[in-house]
Amino acid sequence: MSGDFDRKRLVSEALKAQKMAYVPYSGFKVGAALLTKDDKIYTGCNIENAAFSPTNCAERTAFFKAVSEGENEFKAIAVIGGESNARGVYCPPCGVCRQVMLEFCDPESFIVILANGEEDFRELLLKDLIPFSFGKSNL
Ligand code: THU
Repeated sequence: MSGDFDRKRLVSEALKAQKMAYVPYSGFKVGAALLTKDDKIYTGCNIENAAFSPTNCAERTAFFKAVSEGENEFKAIAVIGGESNARGVYCPPCGVCRQVMLEFCDPESFIVILANGEEDFRELLLKDLIPFSFGKSNL
């Protein structure tokens, strides 16, 4: 897959972010690391809430941090969720996070890395995670 960047570094940043997860209700920690077009990395973790619906996923935390700092072009995101996943079993982004990715990324080239660690990850293109989508071009 195209995209010339250090996959392992992005995964390692997601792993670090995962440790910051605030998950008193599910106990399910997720970390994300988002790479901008200029190779800057914004990380995020999931942040839960007693009222449940205000919970923010790790991926959206990373996107909202980046966009709020003026970033609007992205190459890739690495996502790590859970602790003892079997090799090849990953935490895929939820539908809401896929929709947020679509808002800011080119589905033909944005790379989503699903990881358990630096030695166990898989990458997909956003277009394969959210086919037949509703986006800017529909308005
Ligand atoms: N979660 C994420 O952070 N990212 C995802 O894409 C999947 C779900 C979080 C939300 C909640 O805090 C926990 O995982 C269990 O759903």
